[in-house]
Amino acid sequence: MPGMMVDSFGRVVTGLRIALTPRCNLNCIYCHHEGETKPNGEISDEMVVSVARAAAELGVRSLKFTGGEPLLRCGLAGLIAQMPQDLDISLTTNGIFLAEQAGPLAKAGLDRVNVSLDSLRPQTYRAITGGREGDLEKVLAGIDAARAADLAPIKLNVVVLKENEAEISDLIDFCREKGLILQLIELLDLRHQGLSGDIDAIERRLAARADRVRVREMHRRKKYFLDGAEVEVVRPMDNTEFCANCTRLRVTSDGKIKPCLLRSDNLVEIGTCDCERIMELLQEANARREPYFGKTRIINSEVR
Ligand code: 5AD
Repeated sequence: MPGMMVDSFGRVVTGLRIALTPRCNLNCIYCHHEGETKPNGEISDEMVVSVARAAAELGVRSLKFTGGEPLLRCGLAGLIAQMPQDLDISLTTNGIFLAEQAGPLAKAGLDRVNVSLDSLRPQTYRAITGGREGDLEKVLAGIDAARAADLAPIKLNVVVLKENEAEISDLIDFCREKGLILQLIELLDLRHQGLSGDIDAIERRLAARADRVRVREMHRRKKYFLDGAEVEVVRPMDNTEFCANCTRLRVTSDGKIKPCLLRSDNLVEIGTCDCERIMELLQEANARREPYFGKTRIINSEVR
């Protein structure tokens, strides 16, 4: 029985995020491109399948497909159908093409989706997503298709920006009505553009209104329950607890294992479809994991 991936800070890797393409049909003003600098081609289906198997052997339980926009990947349903049975398979999408794809992807074995939607106002949505492709109606239809296909729990990703901070109450109501979990995400502002909304103030209001608060194991994220709505707050910036409780590895769209979203100097090139070899490479990437913010030693099992 091969081991789990545990790093020298006691952190266990239980989740893998694989970027299936660097391509995206939108151009969001804040996008960090999953920390990719100069992607070079697209990882093959065969390599994705081998990485997923190797990761499952090493104790990974959930796999998230990202991009770019993962729904732009050719043959996505066929790829999902080849994933190991026991993994929780999800993807993060902008939802524009979800109306057509939700049903087939669910049939292929996709378990759930996260939909990025930063505004319910058509003009604001267009402004945030960088222009004409940003059609809010399509995303709303995509969310309904995901509900119909039972890709649940469906999470709505909202990056807190100056543009949308006045809409948080509306977004909470929208999620309550549609049965979605709202994730309010703090902006990682790598280019210092000053786009960030006031997430402190928003979280204070949530705390004041909440019936109940829970702390999730992953990243020690806080989840607020408000009159039937579930709101999770994701705050990575300068957050030592966030890093101390990180349980992820990433794979870039061009086939490199990435130990940390915020670093590009410690990648491990995959370059093979041999499952045994990929297990070694995953362990190597795991050994390169270290908390980006702070290096407090923690024991993951205490959190469960
Ligand atoms: N800060 C925070 N989250 C980001 N995302 C992309 N760029 C950023 C950023 N700069 C996240 C959003 C989006 C997902 C695809 O990636 O949550 O929904």
